[in-house]
Amino acid sequence: MVEMNNRERKEEYPKLYIETYGCQMNIADSEVVVSVMQDKGYSVTEDIHEADVILVNTCSIRENAEQRVWGRLDVFKQIKKKKPSVKIGVIGCMAERLKEKLIEEEKMVDLVVGPDAYRELPLLLEDVESGQKAVNVILSKEETYADINPVRLDKNKISAFISIMRGCNNMCSYCIVPYVRGAERSRDPGSIMNEARDLFEKGYKEIVLIGQNVDSYHWKVENHEKSVTFAQLLESVAKISTDLRIRFSTSHPKDMSDDVLYVMAMYNNICNHIHLPAQSGSTRILEKMNRGYTREWYMDRIQAIKRILPDCAITTDLMTGFPGETEEDHQETLSLMREVNYDLAFMFKYSERPRTYAARHLKDDVKESDKTRRLTEIIDLQGELSAKSKKNDLGEVFEVLIEGVSKKSKDHFFGRNSQNKVVVFPRLNYKVGDYVEVEIIDCTSATLIGEVATKH
Ligand code: 5AD
Ligand code: SF4
Repeated sequence: MVEMNNRERKEEYPKLYIETYGCQMNIADSEVVVSVMQDKGYSVTEDIHEADVILVNTCSIRENAEQRVWGRLDVFKQIKKKKPSVKIGVIGCMAERLKEKLIEEEKMVDLVVGPDAYRELPLLLEDVESGQKAVNVILSKEETYADINPVRLDKNKISAFISIMRGCNNMCSYCIVPYVRGAERSRDPGSIMNEARDLFEKGYKEIVLIGQNVDSYHWKVENHEKSVTFAQLLESVAKISTDLRIRFSTSHPKDMSDDVLYVMAMYNNICNHIHLPAQSGSTRILEKMNRGYTREWYMDRIQAIKRILPDCAITTDLMTGFPGETEEDHQETLSLMREVNYDLAFMFKYSERPRTYAARHLKDDVKESDKTRRLTEIIDLQGELSAKSKKNDLGEVFEVLIEGVSKKSKDHFFGRNSQNKVVVFPRLNYKVGDYVEVEIIDCTSATLIGEVATKH
């Protein structure tokens, strides 16, 4: 009876449909948005056709990320034609970058809200209800949404992101992030710890601490007597329970300290994986990118990882075709890849972003055909390195955290090892959320295949 009443009442709630593009930060932000909206009586729906409000959380990192969102907006417009009462909101990085264009040219868009204004969403929707368009793209120096308890949107309830900082101060010359997400600010460690403990109590087994540059996390109290660094924060979170895995992303080569590596070495539950974007193997290009390190500095950081954490997986981001990149620069990127032996890489063609230093001062002069060929060479080489990395795992035994049933076979689970590699193995009588020791017996291009060794 009570259940029935709840359901009946739920039917009356206005329904929010939210779609998310871009990075982990955006996924975490959508969880903040849902929390803010639920507090004001909205309920989430996964069926776009029953939505009263459609929000799309957007990414501006490359031209093609924005193209994808324009395509989705066309679909939303068709929905609004059939159901004019539905409100459409563009939020996130594209909202920040393209506010005027979205409001002026996109007649169907009712609401444009930047990454630091999500608390205002319900109020802005009230303006929309009264027939106005609503915009808030003000960036903040303080907003971290520290007091907002994100509503987790993931399905398996095993792994959750915790945003530990926002914005970025690095000003890499190609990058839009500082313009759309504002200045860097760290979140109160007390609120991070509370969120992590709460997740663990709810049964989550893995926490991913996220920020644009986690190594520059630095919390200072007002009189500057006490401060917390990323290494200290990482250690505190790791101490919550040995049954809680900790991951983090993204590290920055110019700021990654040995302190963090030593903390990782001390705690088994801090996963052996570092994502350390290199972008290029050429010091000349790194300088033009304003990355703040040379190839030699980057290799020193890699050697520190390999020395202090011999079993640590290393992944990276690489960009090809940056203005002025020559064949020699490109060869240096390939040789860096071989030298490091990356386990995995995300690889992109340079995409000029308006307002950035590179867009204003450097000509996008690498021919499209060269960008394509260089990217193919990078992808092919990474294919070889990733295959080698998996072959090296044959015969090894890893602790795997089970995340769900394998898409390809309902008799198999999938999970990840500490190195963040996906492992598939027979279900037996284990359940999602268990830790299992798995021996690797085979591999495909993307997955390790194993057999259960013993229970944790
Ligand atoms: N063009 C292409 N790739 C980019 N990235 C960031 N900005 C651009 C750009 N303008 C890539 C970098 C970064 C990753 C998140 O996206 O490799 O590490
Ligand atoms: Fe995209 Fe960067 Fe915004 Fe993330 S922060 S959504 S990668 S533009």
